[in-house]
Amino acid sequence: MAQPKRTELHETARAIVADHKGILAADESSGTIKKRFDTIGVESTEESRRFYRGLLFTTPGMEEYIGGVILYDETIHQKADDGTPFPELLAAKGVIPGIKVDTGAQDMAGFPGEKVTEGLDGLRARLEEYARLGARFAKWRAVITIGVGIPTGGCIHANAHALARYAALCQETGIVPIVEPEVLMDADNTLEVCHEATARTLHATFDELDSQRVDLEGTLLKPHMVISGKGCSKQASSEEIAQRTIHCFLSHVPAAVPGIVFLSGGQSEVQATENLNAINRIGGPWPLSFSYGRALQASALREWGGDEANAYAAQAVFLHRARMNALAAAGEWSAELEEAVKA
Ligand code: 13P
Repeated sequence: MAQPKRTELHETARAIVADHKGILAADESSGTIKKRFDTIGVESTEESRRFYRGLLFTTPGMEEYIGGVILYDETIHQKADDGTPFPELLAAKGVIPGIKVDTGAQDMAGFPGEKVTEGLDGLRARLEEYARLGARFAKWRAVITIGVGIPTGGCIHANAHALARYAALCQETGIVPIVEPEVLMDADNTLEVCHEATARTLHATFDELDSQRVDLEGTLLKPHMVISGKGCSKQASSEEIAQRTIHCFLSHVPAAVPGIVFLSGGQSEVQATENLNAINRIGGPWPLSFSYGRALQASALREWGGDEANAYAAQAVFLHRARMNALAAAGEWSAELEEAVKA
């Protein structure tokens, strides 16, 4: 079927990553945000979640560095203190609202230790509703696990197919799909093993996107970096990570993709910034930016600590991380800039 809104899709995708801006992933499910709140001893209620997210979204100046925010179903329906719906508040600042639409990764039948992401049933109607609420892009996260004998081709294929079906439905609704095939960094694998799993995953993903007639120019890719597993005794340097990542992506990601926005995946805040900077020092045919959750929020969450009186301090910390990552997206970050803010 002809895509009636092709140009608009292309423009939206490009606008999200324009001027080295990136994405704030604030789409933690209720279960995940509870885990984050547990680390600071704050009870996760609808109101505490609304207050915290509102604090991030109303940070003055964040729109200089953040081109889009991914919301969760609850959050897209919530309002700021003055009654403005969050999507409207963001759009008024020039920040494009997005929405997580997958319903989570579940154990994959017949594939022990592997997951497949669900959420295709009824997706067309949900996308129409989200578009009505102001969402202009969406996210679907596939999870690929490294282990003994895994990832299997069966798991990679099932996830790639679901990503492509999701992406086609998004584009039909005029919503830019963020395609997120995440290879987890939780195992003890080497950089080389991550490279191989990433290459297989990207290859299958772009093959399926092509089969499902997805318009790549109206799509953003949200991948992990090619990185050593957390438990690996030999941790790769930023330069090695950058070289591997660019090398792998040049072979598997078409230049038509208007932006690659990395997830942080469990890297520390500064590590995620430093690695993104190293990646941009090499560069490629695509804007290489960020779509971080933890690596944009960890310090801000701690600074807030559930106390309204700390809201401004938390906003300052969040703004700093957003700025550091936008500089990294331009390859212009340096470690000294981290110290400057503490002075
Ligand atoms: P992290 O940056 O914390 O990995 O989260 C990004 C995200 O949206 C994962 O789906």
